[in-house]
Amino acid sequence: MSKIIGILTSGGDAPGMNAAVISVVSFARSKGYKVVGIKGGYDGVLLKDSKFDVSKISDPEQLTEADWKALEPDIVELTARKVREYLGQPGTFLHTARCDEFVQEEYQKIGANNLRALGITSVVVVGGDGSYKGARALSRNGISCVCIPGTIDNDLAYTEATLGYDTAVNTCMDAVIAVKATSRSHDRPAIVQVMGRHCGDIGMRTAMATGAEMLIVPEMEWDIDSYAARLNRQIERGNTSATLIICENCFAKMKPFDWRTMLRDNGIKVYDDEDITVEHLAQLLKIKCGGAEVRATVVGYTQRGGLPTACDNVLAFQFGRHAVELLEKGQTNQCIGVRDGKVFNMAIEEALEMPRTFDEELYHIINRL
Ligand code: ADP
Ligand code: F6P
Repeated sequence: MSKIIGILTSGGDAPGMNAAVISVVSFARSKGYKVVGIKGGYDGVLLKDSKFDVSKISDPEQLTEADWKALEPDIVELTARKVREYLGQPGTFLHTARCDEFVQEEYQKIGANNLRALGITSVVVVGGDGSYKGARALSRNGISCVCIPGTIDNDLAYTEATLGYDTAVNTCMDAVIAVKATSRSHDRPAIVQVMGRHCGDIGMRTAMATGAEMLIVPEMEWDIDSYAARLNRQIERGNTSATLIICENCFAKMKPFDWRTMLRDNGIKVYDDEDITVEHLAQLLKIKCGGAEVRATVVGYTQRGGLPTACDNVLAFQFGRHAVELLEKGQTNQCIGVRDGKVFNMAIEEALEMPRTFDEELYHIINRL
């Protein structure tokens, strides 16, 4: 039996994940490996859907066609013919999941035992830092892992690029261009909210790509008065359609103020248990900026489901190739990334320890222009 490589996608899906899987399948099969897709991230490792009982397997070589068939809700053989149709497509045909149990050591051991019983001793994990922690756990339990960065957030410190980031930025750029057009027609300032979890990279890059006048990121403290002052300055200069880009999870860094009372005093209904949103921010800026009709747009999941850019597809091709080379050399428990524009690898453990840096100077420059 040829050596089996398992591959899974985990965490939030990211454009380019399919291309990465296809790249691994193509390179691995050309070197004589059998490749199996593990469906739904770590849910598949736990064989949640097939409920296949691995305790009856004494030797993976004895697994029958019928056994592999029974495993198909979780584990499916991938051939070039099966995966070809997903080339260049967004989403992940292997499905993804947030498998909460997998943070527990008990389940990590079960997962590693499942894979071993099936003869899958090497796994390629495509995902973000949470998924990398899952891979680290599997490697501590004897499964050889190689990780490929797949997340729109670009929040992995060790790499300059992650699959999906470029596509997400392009989607946000298109959204801002469209919002700016209608903002100009109506002389309305705009707020555009982008994703990124706790990382402001999508916001920063979108702001640079679109010339947005204001930016709020989750890495920096901010207060509403200084943004109201910035917007008022733009309006005084004749710019009645300025754009504020705000990343998600930024309200935790907002200087506290009684926004509910301010809205209620201006006739806007707010519930006590309601959290502040970008729609509230638009209403607050309207109050503080002479009644300017500020409107908010949330770009949302279109950032995750966008058609991968050439940049992401090419990166996926290179990452997949590198992953197979590492497995072939037996150099595992590594993650792949980009440094100084070149594909490289380093230990998963070390990569997870690296602190993220944030370009504060650039953030201030964007807000000052
Ligand atoms: P991402 O991989 O994009 O960061 P998540 O943080 O949601 O996405 O993580 C994806 C999955 O990785 C989780 O649902 C869980 O199954 C697994 N995971 C996350 N954190 C850990 C951890 N500390 N140990 C083991 N597995 C983890
Ligand atoms: O990690 C990708 C991401 O889209 C983040 O930008 C966002 O915070 C999160 O996933 C949203 O997750 P969910 O799919 O649970 O809404």
